[in-house]
Amino acid sequence: MSELLQITERPRLEYSEEVAEELLPLYQKVRDVIPPMEWAFHAPYIKAINELKKERNAVILAHNYMGPEIFHGVGDFRGDSLQLAIEAGRTDAEIIVQAGVHFMAETSKLMNPEKLVLMPDMEAGCSLAESITAEDVRLLREQQPGLPIVTYINTSAAVKAECDVTCTSANAANIVRRIAAEFGTREVIMLPDEYLAKNIAAELKAEGLKLLIWQGHCEVHERFRPEDLRTMRGDNPGLKIVAHPECPPDVIKEADFAGSTSAMIRWIEEKQPKKVMLVTECSMSANIAVTAPSVRFIRPCNLCPHMKRITLQNILDSLLYLRNPIEIDENIVSRARAAVERMIRLS
Ligand code: 13P
Ligand code: SF4
Repeated sequence: MSELLQITERPRLEYSEEVAEELLPLYQKVRDVIPPMEWAFHAPYIKAINELKKERNAVILAHNYMGPEIFHGVGDFRGDSLQLAIEAGRTDAEIIVQAGVHFMAETSKLMNPEKLVLMPDMEAGCSLAESITAEDVRLLREQQPGLPIVTYINTSAAVKAECDVTCTSANAANIVRRIAAEFGTREVIMLPDEYLAKNIAAELKAEGLKLLIWQGHCEVHERFRPEDLRTMRGDNPGLKIVAHPECPPDVIKEADFAGSTSAMIRWIEEKQPKKVMLVTECSMSANIAVTAPSVRFIRPCNLCPHMKRITLQNILDSLLYLRNPIEIDENIVSRARAAVERMIRLS
């Protein structure tokens, strides 16, 4: 790593004819979602980042909510929270750059503590992660002794360390079932997303399982309203609606399908609807439009301010200067890692 530290000279970031020609195959792929003026700005960064990744033996894990210039331009692994956590554990690269939010970078570090995990912007947080502290979980444990505690992966490592297992939107109901069976109980505490928990509660109730729920919310998904979805359907005959389970339950009821970001992508790629509205972070429509060109996306544009802090500029800087390494307190690492590994074992 000491040798790598010496590479600190910024590459030339010029949109020359050579850069345009070299990146032409990529531009042909994304031209419907990135206008030429923006491409001229992004292309030199994409080239510089992709070259630096090779020199540094680095990979970029890109969440489905990244802008298309990051997702398609520099992402080595793309996916939902569960897929990125699994890839973080598998990679042989020396450096992981997290194109996502802080809790995702912490999860990567937990999955592969020997690696250098870089966070392009340390301020890229999450309203769900901020809704609960480790102290809150310790108090809950005291109030409800013996009950298993499942935490959504959108939490800090310190919170994960106090919980029995993590879950993501891709596996929440199954994790609750399996941890309840392991503990021999019918009651499970589920933190911190109220809506995700409520969206699986009915299905679990039918199996005799009860959830004790926290009241955290995703600031992007809580803004959607069922009446907006109905209006969109009225205005767009034949429209299919696909929603993320962080939305309130009355919104999910109006949708044709609900699932994790990657499950939403799979549904669209399989069903190829003529017109679709994604009830989630807005960049995802642009990312899928690249791989599903015959689908028309009706876009309500709710952006996640945390995800949008990640840019090609700060990705390049994090790789150049090895800026913002993730460090997690030793007392937290092994317990938080156990909660994530248990999820992967149970999923
Ligand atoms: P998934 O990608 O796991 O569905 O999570 C969505 C999300 O809100 C991440 O911040
Ligand atoms: Fe957190 Fe919501 Fe942003 Fe995801 S979209 S990072 S859950 S605030």
